[in-house]
Amino acid sequence: MALALDFFIILLFYFLTILSNAQKLNQIKLGSSLTAGDDSSAWTSSSGDFVFGFRHLDNQNLFLLAIWYDKIPDKTIVWYANGASPAPKGSKIELTSDGKFSLSAPNGQSIWKAENVADGVSYASLLDTGNFVLAGENYDKYMWESFRYPSDTILPTQVLDVGGVLSSRMTKNNYSKGQFQLRLRPDDHLVLNTISSRMEFVYDPPYYKSGTSDTNNSMNSGFRVVFNETGYIKVIKRNGVTVNLTLGNIASTKDFYHKATLDFDGIFTQYAHPKNPNNGVWDKAWFSVWYEPKDICTSLIGDLGDGACGFNSICAVDVEGRPTCECIPGFSRVDSSNQYSGCNQEKVQKCNQGSRPEELFEMQAMNNAFWPFSANYESFPLQNEEVCNSSCFNDCNCVVAVVKEGTCWKKKLPLSHGRLDRNTYGKALVKIPKVDGSAGNKISQHPNRTKKDQSAVILVVSILLGGSLLFNFIFVATVSLVVFFAYRRSQRVNKVSSLLEMNLRVFTFQELQEATEGFHEEVGKGSFGTVYKGIISTSTSKAIVAVKKLERLSQDGEKEFKTEAGAIAKTHHKNLVRLLGFCDEGSNRLLVYEFMSNGTLASFLFGISRPDWNKRLQMAYGIARGLMYLHEECSTQIIHCDIKPQNILLDDTFTTKISDFGLAKLLGSDQTRTSTVIRGTKGYVAPEWFRNSPVTAKVDVYSYGVMLLEILCCRRNIEMERDNEEEVILVDYVYDCYKERVLEKLVVNDEEVLNDLKRFERLVMVGIWCIQEDHSLRPNMKT
Ligand SMILES: *[C@@H]1O[C@H](CO)[C@@H](O)[C@H](O)[C@H]1NC(C)=O
Ligand SMILES: *[C@@H]1O[C@H](CO)[C@@H](O)[C@H](O)[C@H]1NC(C)=O
Repeated sequence: MALALDFFIILLFYFLTILSNAQKLNQIKLGSSLTAGDDSSAWTSSSGDFVFGFRHLDNQNLFLLAIWYDKIPDKTIVWYANGASPAPKGSKIELTSDGKFSLSAPNGQSIWKAENVADGVSYASLLDTGNFVLAGENYDKYMWESFRYPSDTILPTQVLDVGGVLSSRMTKNNYSKGQFQLRLRPDDHLVLNTISSRMEFVYDPPYYKSGTSDTNNSMNSGFRVVFNETGYIKVIKRNGVTVNLTLGNIASTKDFYHKATLDFDGIFTQYAHPKNPNNGVWDKAWFSVWYEPKDICTSLIGDLGDGACGFNSICAVDVEGRPTCECIPGFSRVDSSNQYSGCNQEKVQKCNQGSRPEELFEMQAMNNAFWPFSANYESFPLQNEEVCNSSCFNDCNCVVAVVKEGTCWKKKLPLSHGRLDRNTYGKALVKIPKVDGSAGNKISQHPNRTKKDQSAVILVVSILLGGSLLFNFIFVATVSLVVFFAYRRSQRVNKVSSLLEMNLRVFTFQELQEATEGFHEEVGKGSFGTVYKGIISTSTSKAIVAVKKLERLSQDGEKEFKTEAGAIAKTHHKNLVRLLGFCDEGSNRLLVYEFMSNGTLASFLFGISRPDWNKRLQMAYGIARGLMYLHEECSTQIIHCDIKPQNILLDDTFTTKISDFGLAKLLGSDQTRTSTVIRGTKGYVAPEWFRNSPVTAKVDVYSYGVMLLEILCCRRNIEMERDNEEEVILVDYVYDCYKERVLEKLVVNDEEVLNDLKRFERLVMVGIWCIQEDHSLRPNMKT
């Protein structure tokens, strides 16, 4: 009897569970459809975490059929169908009555359809895992699921079997297939590959391997990648053994969303994002749990393809493992808005021009730059650098000569896989065409211009000769008007100052959209939002500005926005970036700053050649003065909370300017409270952020200390690729060297510092003083 009752209860429970599951599932009936451009139409998972629908692409009247995380401000896209052929407005995704699932344009043309759909589909559903499924009466399996056709992202509970592929996007906002792939290879490795951009041909060798292959024993090899529901990614071997790719303790999937994406820069990253942004110390953003490869600039090997930064460029990774790209001297970006697009010669170098090389070229040296695999056409043992230099200079085929390990290598174009390597002490000598007899480092910004202008003149003349009288008249009038306006435009651009002398200006969103040509040219991205370059006009002048579009504002930031922007605007100091104005319209919050032409301290310090010692010292003092002003001389104290080289900008005279100050408060973290959102960047944040002690101006002192050591040693705080483990973290290494009194080990290759070791030592001591664990032991900025 008791047994029967138990059985009955279990049965009842079972049915209730099934019932509640069925109720929870949002079923999409046969015959349903969604239309692109109709904002109200989308399919939501029952938890509301995910949405399936159309996403409007930036600056175009085109739509992407996608699945995204809906409850976070980013609305991060995790799957998309038609990346290469975005759909026009009015396109329709339809689940037909016979169970087909396809996307077609308003004119009926098919854009995309679900492949290999099994028969017997009776409904569709977006599951709470983010998997969109076509389901039928057969409960064992789905007829089709988006999880089987991943784009660039996998989610917890998703698996990748042998042959499974993720493809990177072309760029952040272009969902066409890019040049990187993650594949589970039939030979049982999970690998990252580059592919030829035109042919979809996979280049070997891979730039990352999971190390799960065993050629002697196939049972000992991987066959499946699992992203399990608690957020761990692992490779499963045929013998059941698992190899974890996600290591250690990670943020729980109860409180955090997870995803792993092959980003467009080629790095495969597992990310987490807090579900509830108000719970404690986590910032409202995706943060990286782990990534591979650790240094994409050096892991891309093989002589095919162009490398992480495109042809004719130099690649270096930042603290978060992201590649940053620079053109070599005399070259400029193929696509100025895309740093990974590679570089072209500004003035094409030609042979047999009948002139002596002295009239045409000069050589410029770049320390530590080299191209390990490519484009050598001649090499010889080196007697001295000068011989290598002049051999390239006098050879019309030579574009770059590299002096390295006792050999002179002569190279032609294109140069691929360029990188910085501070360990080999190689030196590149680049031949740069002179422009109008001026020196190479003063190369005009628009060397192609004269050629274009000439062809324009030829075009005008030939049209005039060939056209009718009336046509000629209209044509001449039009051309004159165009020239007139172009002239006025060029007249105005140069006068920057009168706008700068104005007080804080309130902009409309429309004005800023026009100023930035629809937020076209991205010049940077910080934790608070993206920065775009723009031109602001007044009746009398034009100024180049940096427009920062704020994301992730806190709710109570709303009221204070104007007050805080006002407070930022009241700061006036040589070492702070000036705020010129702002826009506050609904959810659009933007800040307009003066534009800094020489980039960030990070690119200066960790860039192609080492900046000289005195310049570095001046910069360190300048930043200290700016911080002292924020901490002690403003009417209300401003704590920066995110001091790092990426947030220090350089103007045209290379004066250091602190940017992003005042934003920590503006974005709602109450600085005096103990538990607050961690602002700041790994490697630079003071320990008290993680503890129960108040956050004071000493957090900036800590970050300044880390940065000071970076400036002194001219290297990043964290350099994973160091062979010698004790050198990986600079602050630890500096401390060890200081204790053992071998500070010169920190600057082995830096003559200038070696000749000034006393001063170097004093500044290292200041740096170490600033990074004391106990904040009360740190000095203040004034000291
Ligand atoms: C994406 O980039 C490709 C290649 O550069 C280009 O052909 C395509 O039009 C771009 N797509 C969009 C939507 O801009
Ligand atoms: C996911 O994998 C981790 C690490 O192997 C393991 O500790 C955890 O129990 C797994 N979770 C589930 C639900 O299997």
